[in-house]
Amino acid sequence: MAVPSIGVRLPSSHLPAAPLWSRLWRRPLFKRGFYEVLGLVLWRRKGLQLLNCGYADANYSRFPLPLVDEPERLGYQLYHRLVRDTPLAGKDLVEIGCGRGGGAHFLARECGLRRLIATDASFMLILGNRRRPGPPNLEFRTASASRLPLPAESCDIVVSVESIHPQPDKSAVLAEAARVLRPGGRLLVADFFYTRDSSTNSASGFRASVQGSPFERVEEDWTDQAAAALEEDSPRRLAEIDRLPRFLWPAALSFAGTVRSPLYAQLRQGQARYLHFRLQKAPAPARTV
Ligand SMILES: C[S@@+](CC[C@H](N)C(=O)[O-])C[C@H]1O[C@@H](n2cnc3c(N)ncnc32)[C@H](O)[C@@H]1O
Repeated sequence: MAVPSIGVRLPSSHLPAAPLWSRLWRRPLFKRGFYEVLGLVLWRRKGLQLLNCGYADANYSRFPLPLVDEPERLGYQLYHRLVRDTPLAGKDLVEIGCGRGGGAHFLARECGLRRLIATDASFMLILGNRRRPGPPNLEFRTASASRLPLPAESCDIVVSVESIHPQPDKSAVLAEAARVLRPGGRLLVADFFYTRDSSTNSASGFRASVQGSPFERVEEDWTDQAAAALEEDSPRRLAEIDRLPRFLWPAALSFAGTVRSPLYAQLRQGQARYLHFRLQKAPAPARTV
């Protein structure tokens, strides 16, 4: 498809050195550093509260959103779609990898949750999120998804939007989610996975990790909706990248979801799939007298 024309600085012919950035991305320290720098760079930036691909569906019902969040509707729609079939009123929810916190604000505000604890490994992102006024049932904490600062069986739902793919040890994340969930609780995942089995982020590897976990799995393929969202939202996203400091352009073009990212091509060419997993922990056994 044609690359949309965008702001004045970002050259339309500029393509990132994708293999170099992919190699760097495999290093955990680079990944950590990238999100810390992002937290710093976006510190004062209004908008850009979401860092996900989004979910586009022409027939999706239009749920209310504050005007200020409208430009990122497709990203909020991904959160809406993720929790749509799970009862949330009065429940305790934990988000892992909350990023800039837009999804956590949306869920805490709109879903009648008793409490939402939004966590992320990035200190700077969490610090930035704490500065923003939010609903009283929302709290932000710095934490790795494989070591949540929460007691066992203390929440009903765990959500993860695109925070599984950066983590090398998916089994550890699943085990930690299973620990903090109450019996009958759910882990809701939306993320991209590679179809090549040898990838550290392969769909088959993740399914195998789920198989070895206490969760029952329901899986849906949202690749078309994610790719369509990237197409629809790319002009806005490229304009946002244009406003970043120049040294971040190659990384942003590699990792941010736009039609110029390697991920978009991989989704459209079948090398990656965007998947939803609804993972259910077994309910407590019925007590016999
Ligand atoms: C692509 S962003 C998604 C953010 C957010 N869920 C959204 O949709 O806007 C991935 C997030 O995962 C976080 N992350 C990466 N590794 C993590 C880990 N081991 N534990 C917790 N969060 C992690 C990153 O800091 C980043 O904020």
